[in-house]
Amino acid sequence: MSATLFDAIGWLVTNDTELGSGSLGVRERAALVVDDGRVAWVGDAGAAPAADDRVDVGGRAVLPGWVDSHAHLVFAGERSREFAARMAGQAYQAGGIRRTVAATRAASEDSLRTNLQQLVRESLRQGTTTIETKSGYGLTVADEVRALTIAREVTDEVTFLGAHVVPEEYQSDPAAYVALVEGEMLDACAPHARWIDVFCERGAFDGTATREILWAGAARGLGRRVHANQLEHGPGVQIAVEVDAASADHCTHLDDADVAALAGSRTVATLLPGAEFSTRHPYPDARRLLDGGATVALATDCNPGTSFTSSMAFCIALAVREMRMTPDEAVWSATAGGARALRRDDVGRLSPGARADLQVLDAPSHVHLAYRPGVPLTWQVWRRGVRV
Ligand code: NIG
Ligand code: FE
Repeated sequence: MSATLFDAIGWLVTNDTELGSGSLGVRERAALVVDDGRVAWVGDAGAAPAADDRVDVGGRAVLPGWVDSHAHLVFAGERSREFAARMAGQAYQAGGIRRTVAATRAASEDSLRTNLQQLVRESLRQGTTTIETKSGYGLTVADEVRALTIAREVTDEVTFLGAHVVPEEYQSDPAAYVALVEGEMLDACAPHARWIDVFCERGAFDGTATREILWAGAARGLGRRVHANQLEHGPGVQIAVEVDAASADHCTHLDDADVAALAGSRTVATLLPGAEFSTRHPYPDARRLLDGGATVALATDCNPGTSFTSSMAFCIALAVREMRMTPDEAVWSATAGGARALRRDDVGRLSPGARADLQVLDAPSHVHLAYRPGVPLTWQVWRRGVRV
């Protein structure tokens, strides 16, 4: 493979504090060499070693590709009526998930695959070079396996979310559904997934079921993630820390003990402001988490019910304007933070050895992502050193 030099970079976000200034390791007037799909060299413009190809980015900003660590992309149908009703004053209910479950079960494998591929392409065009995606709209053994198998075709970061909600046919016996999830369904799904996730919430799964299902997943070698404290305060965050989950996602309703538990653990607080935007709920208190010492990631939660956006830039703009994160904090959370939430160290940074997943913005710095909200600033996207 040939080496490529990215030259005349305005601001280079490395996420390596030894390579530049501030928490993002920003280097001005920089250059970067990619070789064999990896970052080979970072330094000053004009001082780079020889390469086969040269890309003059003309003073634009270069950032690591987004690491979107939370999405639900295997589904059929859409729920824009539900969104319009919410915007007209109706409250969000987790039960909307069941409408997507019905549509997903009825869909052909090919149509699910086509929808998923379209969403992944849409994300990639906007700079997302690593994406996590979950099952959770099948909720039978066969439908969950099908979702995971399709997901595995587009990413390694695949999460089994059989415990999304209790499906219609188990309404009268939710305990039997929990037994199915942690037994037969998990046996069939574990080989296709890296992670297990539970929606720990009133109307979905309580603390006892959440613990049981997560430990059952751990026993099959799966890493843990939790949909925690989204709609009200509950035990989700504490359980996430207890089971050494890589991430507690949503974290909208926290008490001091939750913040302290996160800060004292390896569990990342993944904030999903697209969900609060689309449900008109209050945003999570990012400042409290950051000031309390927790590690924060930002992700889209892309799903047809509560957050139908694939735009990490939109989430960054919300995090900065509505959640009082600084532009630096938001960009870190959408790149290095997402990598932490997936327990990865090969992505989310641009320093030697990292995967050459990068985006060039049509802007001089990453601050423009929040400063120019809604403007498509992605100029080029490169994954593993190849332009996409
Ligand atoms: O992350 N919280 C649970 N699951 C999704 C909502 C899915 C849906 O409404 O279809 C979420 O917000
Ligand atoms: Fe989610």
